[in-house]
Amino acid sequence: MSKSSFGLIGLGVMGRSLAQNILRNKFSLSVYNRDTPEEAHVLTSFLEHNASEILHGFTSLKEFVESLDSPRKILLMVSAGAPVDDVIGKLLPLLEEKDIVIDGGNSHYQDTEKRNERLGEKQIQYLGCGISGGEEGALKGPSIMPGGVEEAYKEVSGVLEAIAAKDKDGKACCSYVGSGGSGNFVKTIHNGIEYAEMQLIAECYHSLSLHKSNEEIAEIFERWNRTDLSSYLLEITIEILRKKEGDKYLLDLILDKAANKGTGSWSSQISLGNGMPTTMMTDAVFARYISTLKEKRVVLFKIVNRKTSSKDIDEVIVEDAYRFARLVNHQQGFSLVKKISDTNEWHVDLSEIARVWTNGCIIRSQLMEELVSLFRDIENIFDSKDMIARLSKLENGVASYLETSVRAKISTPVISSAYQYWLGMITDRLPANLIQAQRDFFGAHTYERIDSESGKFFHTNW
Ligand code: 6PG
Repeated sequence: MSKSSFGLIGLGVMGRSLAQNILRNKFSLSVYNRDTPEEAHVLTSFLEHNASEILHGFTSLKEFVESLDSPRKILLMVSAGAPVDDVIGKLLPLLEEKDIVIDGGNSHYQDTEKRNERLGEKQIQYLGCGISGGEEGALKGPSIMPGGVEEAYKEVSGVLEAIAAKDKDGKACCSYVGSGGSGNFVKTIHNGIEYAEMQLIAECYHSLSLHKSNEEIAEIFERWNRTDLSSYLLEITIEILRKKEGDKYLLDLILDKAANKGTGSWSSQISLGNGMPTTMMTDAVFARYISTLKEKRVVLFKIVNRKTSSKDIDEVIVEDAYRFARLVNHQQGFSLVKKISDTNEWHVDLSEIARVWTNGCIIRSQLMEELVSLFRDIENIFDSKDMIARLSKLENGVASYLETSVRAKISTPVISSAYQYWLGMITDRLPANLIQAQRDFFGAHTYERIDSESGKFFHTNW
């Protein structure tokens, strides 16, 4: 048997699709899946459905490793967390210097940094690789964000760039992000932005649904999707709104409890821990958490006897609010990428990240295309005069939207969050002077003065 050029561990949904993508691109592939009673059929079924002379399957890790060309290139597609360390622990004694291990799951970037060090001690090269696009993306072309040992990326770039989605110029939506855990970090923030984008659409749907049918909302979203608001998430929402089960809309039958796998909360923790006000992704996480308190919500609903307004919410102000909030969400998300990149000296190229996110990933959109060129010249959306002008122009629409939705008693946490953040950012004097005075009063924490030089601290015996 000739040796395979690439190896993949873990034939779950994403692993299977990526393996098929690799094979379609004519790279010889060895796959491994564990032989537990629950997964006994996984490997055989994959081999049956994808029979090819360039595909070899194994349930023995040793045979799998031996089937690979040196330096071995192994993509891990196992659940994030302990399973990754578990597989690495089993692989390590079988690997040799210069072999390359790529983690393609949604791992925490700080775990990736530790693994990078651990494998580096044995001269094994490690890449933490963000992969976005869900099952379909993995199969047809995902957006790929590899970070870690740059020499290792050069060895595997042929495969990764071949299987990735392509941008509008035909270039792969895959690019080396930087050293350490930068690849997984960037993917985590992608998900933070994704959480807020999803919640924004959900809030628009919620406001519109007071007086409009699912079909009418789908028509509105379809119209938006023909403008600068166009995005993959809006596109799938139109399909979701129209999906019927018999004579009922499937969406109306789905329980309103939003689940999560943790990356949204990680992105929020990263921003909180680093002094970054990415309020929208954080509120989007909280919105999911509030949704899970369904039983309590139902009890309170009955006690409060809540009635939503009978007044229709003008779809034009909903559109203004959505357009406004999306710009703010991207401003927050990319600022967080920049901040953590600077802290870690990763030198992440924001324009290149936006380009990698123009296709294959969940947050691909018309706006992302625009950001590719914008970030060639600036590093913060608020540094663009054009963006500030656009936000200012939309401001009244958002304010009307929020006024109406508050009166209508609809919860709009993330659109509100966008507007509050904007108000805070465009205010030259906030009441933080009072916070400083209170801190100094009870804890002698000191304060700076406007009539003294910056960096000089005062304490008052209040
Ligand atoms: C992607 C997605 C994906 C994510 C799922 C579920 O880019 O393909 O972000 O990686 O894991 O969408 O995430 P939640 O369960 O947290 O919503």
